[in-house]
Amino acid sequence: MAKATKGSRAERPHFFCSACGHEEARWFGRCPACGAWNTAAEAPRAAGAAGRGARARWAPRTGEAAVGGRGPRPLAHVEVGAAQRLPSGLREFDRVLGGGVMPGSIVLVSGDPGIGKSTLMLQLAETLAALGRGVLYVSGEESEEQVRLRAGRLGPVPGSLLVLTETDLEAVLEAAAQTRPDIVVVDSIQTLARADLEGGPGSVSQVRECALALLHFAKGSRAAVFLVGHVTKDGAVAGPRVLEHMVDAVLYLEGERYQHYRVLRAAKNRFGSTHELGVYEMTDSGLQEVANPSQAFLSERRGVEPGTAVVASLEGTRPLLVELQALVATSFYGTPQRVTSGFDPRRLALLLAVLERRVGLRLGRHDVFVTVTGGLTLDEPGTDLGLALAVASSYRSRPVLEGTLAVGEVSLSGELRRVARVEARVREAAALGFRRAAVPAPQAADVRVAGIEVVPVATVREAIGELLGAKVEVRPPGAAAAGAPGAAAPRGGPARGPGAP
Ligand code: TYD
Ligand code: MG
Repeated sequence: MAKATKGSRAERPHFFCSACGHEEARWFGRCPACGAWNTAAEAPRAAGAAGRGARARWAPRTGEAAVGGRGPRPLAHVEVGAAQRLPSGLREFDRVLGGGVMPGSIVLVSGDPGIGKSTLMLQLAETLAALGRGVLYVSGEESEEQVRLRAGRLGPVPGSLLVLTETDLEAVLEAAAQTRPDIVVVDSIQTLARADLEGGPGSVSQVRECALALLHFAKGSRAAVFLVGHVTKDGAVAGPRVLEHMVDAVLYLEGERYQHYRVLRAAKNRFGSTHELGVYEMTDSGLQEVANPSQAFLSERRGVEPGTAVVASLEGTRPLLVELQALVATSFYGTPQRVTSGFDPRRLALLLAVLERRVGLRLGRHDVFVTVTGGLTLDEPGTDLGLALAVASSYRSRPVLEGTLAVGEVSLSGELRRVARVEARVREAAALGFRRAAVPAPQAADVRVAGIEVVPVATVREAIGELLGAKVEVRPPGAAAAGAPGAAAPRGGPARGPGAP
């Protein structure tokens, strides 16, 4: 008897790490799993009660619970219902999810404040409702009126779109039980709370328990649940790390707050790849899909200037052309600065070392700044050559020849390595009027694209030798102001290299 009580988990105090979700029976000062200090949080005594309630309350539509409750049985005997994805009508969104909304899935949509999460979710709700789906939009942050106003901005508001402003988990689950929607949006998980738990909304245990209850609801009812999640200053989803482990997919909406492009990408996806990304533009009437992102990202490019290079980054199935900008300037402080935005700083450090040792550029006393246009984040080795060229171009004040695409991974020896799908990248460039593509020498023979001169390059050194145009005099700002009115003339003008038309 006593044994049984002791064994029951809910009776024992039980703690978990708010950083990584690791569980321990006893309190800990430092998490044994991830090493973080002071992250122990006591799990609620009635842990999972609402979850169990949720599981019991929704007689699943397909006749059986999606998670738990059956005991082991042969995998081969598990019937596979035709898991019909629901195309949402938002093409880019569907692409990132892997081809539409999966019934019974739970998806976390995350991003900085003000980036457009609520806007995206409301657009999703509207298009799905317009397609005849039952949609419940739960807002814990905005009033009904605010949601209505925003919805009106985004397009016609379908009659079947339900809104609920509520922060109590039980009330949300109750409403969902009554209305039996196909899709539930919860904006945001940090505003929800279970009344019987200690801790305010947004606290680690509240976020965890509410997400768990919604997970059971999703699996039991076959409704797709979208949770909006805030991120902390360092970019992680606020609340327990375990939230990311619980859900089926984690989508990030990214971009520069004051630029109009937004990129949606999956950091985790149980139903598709994590490489696809969707590109949006924030307009007065919500997020608009960008049909040709390469063109959009390069549209602000004005002629050729030293320090810029165009690369083709393979994002999922499609290559995206983006401009990399580098600025190399004499450093006035002891330690030269290396500042990047949208590019991995360690990758930059590696490429700078290669430029120093294999090409002989003396970068040790220079600050190096790197940015990627469009607010995109690049993490694909095929963009190495472009970055090396942009840095060398800025350092030498010689622009990369106009109309040139640079493709290639740079090895520590300074040689260029093969990249995936080189021809697809070059084709994307050809479609946008590029005339020349520098590709790794071993792959040059594979690339045949009309209108493109293929320049095989074996090493970074060779690429810098062949692809930089004539030196451009950099006038200090004072000199330009003192010069003739013409000094402020077209920026692209004097920068044209011999390759210019
Ligand atoms: P929002 O979706 O509220 O961001 P989040 O939920 O991620 O905090 O988006 C807020 C920003 O988007 C706000 O600055 C206004 C802007 N916006 C538009 O530019 N156009 C629109 O149609 C809408 C609805 C918002
Ligand atoms: Mg919001």
